[in-house]
Amino acid sequence: MQSEAVPGPLHAAIIMDGNGRWATQRGLPRLAGHHRGVESIRRTAEACPDLGIGTLTLYAFSADNWQRPAEEVGGLMRLLRSYLRNETQRLARTGTRLSVVGRRDRLPDGIPEAIAAAEAATAAGTRLHLRICVDYSARDAIIAAAQRLQGEDPTRESFGKLVAGPMHGSPVDVDLLIRTGGERRLSDFMLWEAAYAELHFTERMWPEFGPEDLAEAVAEFGRRERRFGGLKAPAVSAAA
Ligand code: FPP
Repeated sequence: MQSEAVPGPLHAAIIMDGNGRWATQRGLPRLAGHHRGVESIRRTAEACPDLGIGTLTLYAFSADNWQRPAEEVGGLMRLLRSYLRNETQRLARTGTRLSVVGRRDRLPDGIPEAIAAAEAATAAGTRLHLRICVDYSARDAIIAAAQRLQGEDPTRESFGKLVAGPMHGSPVDVDLLIRTGGERRLSDFMLWEAAYAELHFTERMWPEFGPEDLAEAVAEFGRRERRFGGLKAPAVSAAA
């Protein structure tokens, strides 16, 4: 069975948008949408292995999200803290390795330590590599990689590894990038890693996203023709 095997080959990434609107439409505070969003993370991550996804990268908090009202930022940080506290055992049990991507030096006291502990406790997971981006900016990650070059002459591969940070065997390149909530933009997410990603935009708000939506995105991905800048196989042989 696929779920018993090594992680699938696909790297999917999701911009989890629409929490605030989902809540506001129901007369609830925005934070209620973020709370429901954590449940979406759980059911979506657990559906990955059977869909052939071995690496899932989620955008939870961008470097620009610090501009939101202090109450919302504080609520998101509390959610992150409780996620790390409550989910680590479940992640370990389901063979999920957790990595947190992004800056750690601006996070509230105790969270960097909780991240390190959760990463260590789940390090043996081989079914899914779940990467959660917090205080993340793709452009800042590219700048940080350039600063680490120290005169080396990089290749796409070597530079990509610097941009992505520790991948623990996962592919740097994103195959399928999904954005929920109806907007169609990348918002400074995975700008290097998604160079050849297939993009999938859905109106579904993140609190309502689940395994069926992920399966639909993967099915559509399977119907796309990926050429990576080349030509269709028959056209190549016709020209030869
Ligand atoms: C975007 O929706 C979502 C976020 C900025 C936060 C995403 C966070 C979670 C799903 C839960 C937190 C999870 C962890 C692990 C901390 P939005 O608020 O921009 O929605 P809107 O566009 O409808 O306003």
